[in-house]
Amino acid sequence: MASVRFSNLTKVYPGSVKQPDVTAVKGIDLQIEDNEFMVLVGPSGCGKSTTLRMLAGLEEITSGECYIGDRVVNDTLSKDRDIAMVFQNYALYPHMSVFDNMAFGLKLQKTPADEIRTRVGEAAETLGLSELLDRKPKALSGGQRQRVAVGRAIVRNPKVFLFDEPLSNLDAKMRVQMRTEISKLHGRLDATMVYVTHDQVEAMTMGDRICVMKDGVIMQVDKPLDLYQRPQNMFVAGFIGSPPMNFFHGRVSGEGDALRFEETGSDANRVSIELPSAASALARPYAGKALVLGIRPEDLSVATESSGPTFSAKIEVSEPMGSETFLYLNTGQTDFVSKVQSDHRFQMGDSIPICMDLSRIHFFDPETEKVVAPT
Ligand SMILES: Nc1ncnc2c1ncn2[C@@H]1O[C@H](COP(=O)(O)OP(=O)(O)OP(=O)(O)O)[C@@H](O)[C@H]1O
Ligand SMILES: [Mg+2]
Repeated sequence: MASVRFSNLTKVYPGSVKQPDVTAVKGIDLQIEDNEFMVLVGPSGCGKSTTLRMLAGLEEITSGECYIGDRVVNDTLSKDRDIAMVFQNYALYPHMSVFDNMAFGLKLQKTPADEIRTRVGEAAETLGLSELLDRKPKALSGGQRQRVAVGRAIVRNPKVFLFDEPLSNLDAKMRVQMRTEISKLHGRLDATMVYVTHDQVEAMTMGDRICVMKDGVIMQVDKPLDLYQRPQNMFVAGFIGSPPMNFFHGRVSGEGDALRFEETGSDANRVSIELPSAASALARPYAGKALVLGIRPEDLSVATESSGPTFSAKIEVSEPMGSETFLYLNTGQTDFVSKVQSDHRFQMGDSIPICMDLSRIHFFDPETEKVVAPT
């Protein structure tokens, strides 16, 4: 087994006369521990596949180093890196049986036939494919094909498994099922896995740690709940969580211990709340200045008589999800979402009082978009 490390890893795709160069990965540093399940997540075009392909040896590294274990592998051929990659489109050989698809790499390596039978047999057992070994890929469901692609990686017994959006061709139910199967596999195989997705639910549920990328840069690397509870910037706060964190742009007013957050604008309904002492302490350096207040949908509720400070908002859309309802609301300035209990009945266009859990607010600097941390 092996750790993986990127040091100032950079990829420039050279342009042409008409096209400028594209810097897809901009000097990233990342340590992936032996046996860790690391998820790379981020919007389309942020450099996830490029990073994975540099690690796999499928894409030349422009500058910086890529380590597997203690060894720099920049100039090591893909086949000598001891990795196996599972792609989004599975890339199975259509004319070969499931057995032959899984055995193909081992045959190329001139592995003895009885050892091939043993390894393919074990992998098929692990993945529930034992009954399907004689079938051709076209006679398999999407999920079964997916498992053959994973099986082909397992039989090679690699140090590191790489997955690039392996579930995106599956329907929603199958995705959930395969997600758990890959997580279980990780538990059983004791292997280092690097998994690329743009689905934040996959990232949250599968990763030991998650690396959030944007425009070729790493925005934050953390355990799933730390990422959710302590986002370091507005990008991560808005990317992880569904619906995402709400942001209110405003100013800090008042002085001493009696600071208020006032939403920008002149609308009578704008958010204006007195900050409790912990939040005041955080906001103090911004007194008289602009600040962004972030709050997750579940930390906003419909106010009752015993609630603390409230503000009024208009219901634009109500989406009952069964166990809870997503209310899409507007203060007159800001659109935001609240997750509330489904036992309320809501009427579009109504104004309702909203209460904020003031112990759960985040502040962000409007210019740097970084979280305001205690000093
Ligand atoms: N061969 C190439 N030549 C030029 N530019 C490329 C090439 N491959 C990728 N890019 C660019 O590099 C950037 C990163 O691409 P990459 O495929 O790594 O993104 P990604 O995060 O995997 O996105 P997605 O979620 O859509 O798969 C994009 O701007 C893309 O257009
Ligand atoms: Mg990609």
